[in-house]
Amino acid sequence: MKVTKAVIPAAGLGTRMLPATKTVPKEMLPLVDKPVIQYIVEEAVASGIEDILIVTNRAKSAMDDYFDYHPELEHRLERSGKLHEAETSRAVADMANIFYVRQKETKGLGHAIWRAKRFVGDEPFAILLGDDIMYTEQGAPALTQLIAAAEKYECSAIGTREVDDEHIVKYSSLKIKPLEERIYDILDMNEKPTLETKLSNHAIMGRYVLTPAIFDALENTAPGAGGEIQLTDGMRALLGRERMVAVDFNAKRYDTGNLCGFLEATIDYALRHPEAGDWLRDFILRKAEMLK
Ligand code: UTP
Repeated sequence: MKVTKAVIPAAGLGTRMLPATKTVPKEMLPLVDKPVIQYIVEEAVASGIEDILIVTNRAKSAMDDYFDYHPELEHRLERSGKLHEAETSRAVADMANIFYVRQKETKGLGHAIWRAKRFVGDEPFAILLGDDIMYTEQGAPALTQLIAAAEKYECSAIGTREVDDEHIVKYSSLKIKPLEERIYDILDMNEKPTLETKLSNHAIMGRYVLTPAIFDALENTAPGAGGEIQLTDGMRALLGRERMVAVDFNAKRYDTGNLCGFLEATIDYALRHPEAGDWLRDFILRKAEMLK
């Protein structure tokens, strides 16, 4: 199984980050010196993905512009000797073949993925949620770990992470059976469970490798939690027909779609930044003294 296509659904309304996301897509909010979506595209490319479809909406055209050349800016930088900056700007546009499709109505993650049907065609593909960043210091990126499991078991593979009761009700829960270290057979799943209906504390988390059979499943999926077409409901239907495994990938996960997750990611990435890291460390230590 070779996975060369990825879909990044980025058509959500981002209501948890208002008012910043009223006109700026949450995927374009800067995490230190790059927009959130660039980290996600970098993970996809590092995992062997060549073609990426970003599912957008009418308020998100800043993403198309970002992954394009900006000749006026780049010529100006070149003329003033800022060759590295000009090259950095162009390199963003050359990272992968990036395509766009609009989700005309915000009808849920499952509906957004369904918009990728023509792009995907008849091959397995990856999904990376537009606001979930997975950091790996060493070793394979999170998506690479999922692709390896999908190839080994010749089936769909979904990212998972064990979360506490406070969080499981906000995600999808999985009923699973251990297969090998960090990999599980999936027996069942449900979206936004209550503490009574949760199948376990293993939540579905941000990364997927799915077979194209998901599109038939999504076509027959009725609106679920929140009146939206849920990807989890489509995957549950797929589970009736195909094997699926869950991968507890080895990476630090940041949910940049909520304020505290965004701040945590900002501080961690800034501390790792080659120019800003040392300065920020000193600043935080001084600040902590003042707050004592
Ligand atoms: P989220 O629920 O995390 O994103 O959806 P949201 O809806 O933008 O956030 P809030 O709750 O209003 O703050 C998970 C992923 O699914 C995408 C989002 O862009 C995000 O990547 N999504 C969600 C769509 O593409 N379309 C939708 O209709 C809903």
